[in-house]
Amino acid sequence: MKPTIALTKGRLEKQFLAFLQSKGYDIAPLTDKGRKLQIETDDFFAVFAKGVDVATYVEHGIADLGIVGEDILLEFEPDVYDLLPLPFGKCRLAIAGEAEGPRSFGKQRIATKFPNITTKYFRERGKSVDIVKLEGSVELAPLLGLADNIVDIVETGNTLKENGLVVKEEMMSISARCIANRNSLKLKKSVLAPLIDSFRIEEAAI
Ligand code: PRP
Repeated sequence: MKPTIALTKGRLEKQFLAFLQSKGYDIAPLTDKGRKLQIETDDFFAVFAKGVDVATYVEHGIADLGIVGEDILLEFEPDVYDLLPLPFGKCRLAIAGEAEGPRSFGKQRIATKFPNITTKYFRERGKSVDIVKLEGSVELAPLLGLADNIVDIVETGNTLKENGLVVKEEMMSISARCIANRNSLKLKKSVLAPLIDSFRIEEAAI
């Protein structure tokens, strides 16, 4: 029985396919999939979902493995086994805003897609902030006066730059991770092992 892998659509998807190809897998069925959300390859079934849903499918055992950003694991803390880091999806979580941004005298207001990570980060530093949860294009918030700063993912830095924002504080480096359903790891060990082993990378490459 082939294993099922849930893949995060979009940026991570492209990087994961390049990684698979570098490991000798035939990725043609995955690159030619059009708008299909389920694909069978010679080695596994692939399902394509949004990052947080990848974690949900793995948590519920619908997918045995998942390829997901570390930000999703930190924000939603799904009950999955965090198996190993992958050498792509590398970016940082950072506090960013306008270089000469307005200095608010009260509590700082932060717009973010990651309220849990943000709350924890500031709490650990003895600071309390007001959080405005957004679903995307977070960079708009300081420009339009919704927030003083943002907490967001910075990969190339282009989105910040093109919107006149700057990094004010680096919070943490993150990468893509391979996650696994806890039962699958025990029950499907023999089919998962070759796949997982092929995803392993030298520590130095992480
Ligand atoms: C992410 C992130 C930033 C951008 C950073 O958003 O939230 O907006 O990428 O990437 P960069 O540093 O390479 O410019 P995404 O593209 O996933 O879209 P979203 O804003 O709709 O969440």
